[in-house]
Amino acid sequence: MKRRLSSAATAPKTVFTDPLTEVLRPGQSIELLKELHILTRDGKLNQDSRRKLKQVYHLCQFIEPLLDEVLGRQDTLTLADHGAGKSYLGFILYDLYLEERAGAHIYGIETRDELVEKSRELAARLDFPRMSFLNVTVAESIGSEQLPASIDIVTALHACNTATDDAIQFALAKQARHIVLVPCCQAEVAAVLRKHKNESFGKTPLSEIWRHPIHTREFGSQLTNVLRCLQLEAHGYQVTVTELVGWEHSLKNELIVATRTDAPRRNARERLQQILQELNLQELEGRFLTP
Ligand SMILES: C[S@@+](CC[C@H](N)C(=O)[O-])C[C@H]1O[C@@H](n2cnc3c(N)ncnc32)[C@H](O)[C@@H]1O
Repeated sequence: MKRRLSSAATAPKTVFTDPLTEVLRPGQSIELLKELHILTRDGKLNQDSRRKLKQVYHLCQFIEPLLDEVLGRQDTLTLADHGAGKSYLGFILYDLYLEERAGAHIYGIETRDELVEKSRELAARLDFPRMSFLNVTVAESIGSEQLPASIDIVTALHACNTATDDAIQFALAKQARHIVLVPCCQAEVAAVLRKHKNESFGKTPLSEIWRHPIHTREFGSQLTNVLRCLQLEAHGYQVTVTELVGWEHSLKNELIVATRTDAPRRNARERLQQILQELNLQELEGRFLTP
């Protein structure tokens, strides 16, 4: 039997002192928070993890309406979380929103054996039967028989480097309804910008934007997300880009939320192609100009 924080209506006399009350939600599994080291074994708040939990909650605020949207249309929901790590996000989503939804299933995709094993053990211990963990790369997961043919929601939270791009490919292949990305550092575009710096110099004064090495890295990173957004729009997704406020522990706090509308933005593909050409990035067409 899982121990849970009682809802306000049935709350025992115990009054939690701040900052514990600030982070605990009604109905939340205390065992889960201990297992994720957000609470210590004796139920005290672990200050380092508190920040992590608040950040995950913040992201959950964006994801909850997407869960509601899918479950408002159908009884089932599949969510794949790429580069899941310790699966903080998946566990919190399951615990807070999906435990009572018998048709909901969360899949965590992660390459580190020990993290996958730990997540499996934790899901079994907490009796979260509709959580599965796959020890495969994001790219491999696209063809995995352990996953259903379609997935409703795809998340990738700081999935390293091009794993975010693989998550986009996964989402397109699975015809995901919603995609939630918080991209990590991405070095691929910067490397190609660097490689063709001299050529770009002679071609366009815009090359000043990435002339200095730090600018190459930063512009490469920003451009990557711009290309990703255009790619999603070209595939019929409506895209919102916002800042994940409160994400203080990381400079990578751009949140991209995409929802399939099946009405591709008319010039997105054309723009994408033009940008790749203008900036001497044609070799990345296979990455972003996917059919
Ligand atoms: C920075 S951590 C983020 C973990 C988690 N999403 C979070 O925000 O707490 C990135 C995780 O992605 C995993 N990863 C990196 N590349 C991957 C790939 N190609 N396929 C699957 N997992 C990957 C790493 O092992 C690592 O656990």
